[in-house]
Amino acid sequence: MHLDRRSFIAASAVGLSAVETRWLPAAEALPEFSFVIVSDTHLGRQDSQTPERQWRQAIAEINSAPGDFVLHLGDVVDGGREAQYPRYAESRRELTKPIHEIPGNHDPVPLFEKHIRTPIDTTFDHRGIRFLLLNNSHNDSHLGFIKPEQLAWMDRQCADAARQDLRLALVCHVPIHKNLNPDRGWYVKPEDGQTAFYELVERYAARFLVCFHGHFHNGIRGWRDHGSLVEVLCPSVCYNQDRRLAAAIQEKRTTGFFVEELRPGYVLATLGKGRLTLRYKPLGADRNGEYSAEWPA
Ligand SMILES: [Fe+2]
Repeated sequence: MHLDRRSFIAASAVGLSAVETRWLPAAEALPEFSFVIVSDTHLGRQDSQTPERQWRQAIAEINSAPGDFVLHLGDVVDGGREAQYPRYAESRRELTKPIHEIPGNHDPVPLFEKHIRTPIDTTFDHRGIRFLLLNNSHNDSHLGFIKPEQLAWMDRQCADAARQDLRLALVCHVPIHKNLNPDRGWYVKPEDGQTAFYELVERYAARFLVCFHGHFHNGIRGWRDHGSLVEVLCPSVCYNQDRRLAAAIQEKRTTGFFVEELRPGYVLATLGKGRLTLRYKPLGADRNGEYSAEWPA
């Protein structure tokens, strides 16, 4: 049978999935667990106390919320304000759950390494999932960058995860998905690692579940444009802006999903049993938005 290039790629992807599926019999479905996602705390923004107050309120709420751990998706402080890092380090000690941060474009690497963690690119495994924590931000750009050595590191981590029958989630500040108007257009360009990353995802198609990003301050926004991979942007604890994304999606001017909620807040995520649910938790509010994605068994 003759296959043109397009169907060959599709056939390869299907073949790869079939191999992966054998490693993942239905009986090994992931157990369900929950965790919290915060982003863009921007401590010290406009030299105001408000961001720290919001972050400390979030800590108090998170401590009494469900969730095994917390992900912080970057921009811990605003504009690299060094004096804010010890304040952040002090505040995070009040959290009763473990927290895993990544830097954003407002976090200088030397300060992040000094006050939060070194090495920055690292992983942790939780309930059948390997979380890859990756710095893809530059302080002088809103765009994202994944270096060849980071891609090689991710590839090794993914191969090891496959050997251990773990699934995969990526955590990095700048989205990889090409998001043009009405979104911000801040992403990882093809030549800066995007193409290579999606090739990696395709190689581990049955394992790569989700990417979590911050950076946009637009609430819960995301896409499912690369197989079953969910790419999601999470809201800022500090402030979110209205880009009229719900209308743009409804009018088919863009793809993806958006949860209609923009108040400062965090996300309660539930993952497992083939499903991811993201609940928007505005600070001090009961009402919340929700997005759910399901993966085929
Ligand atoms: Fe950012």
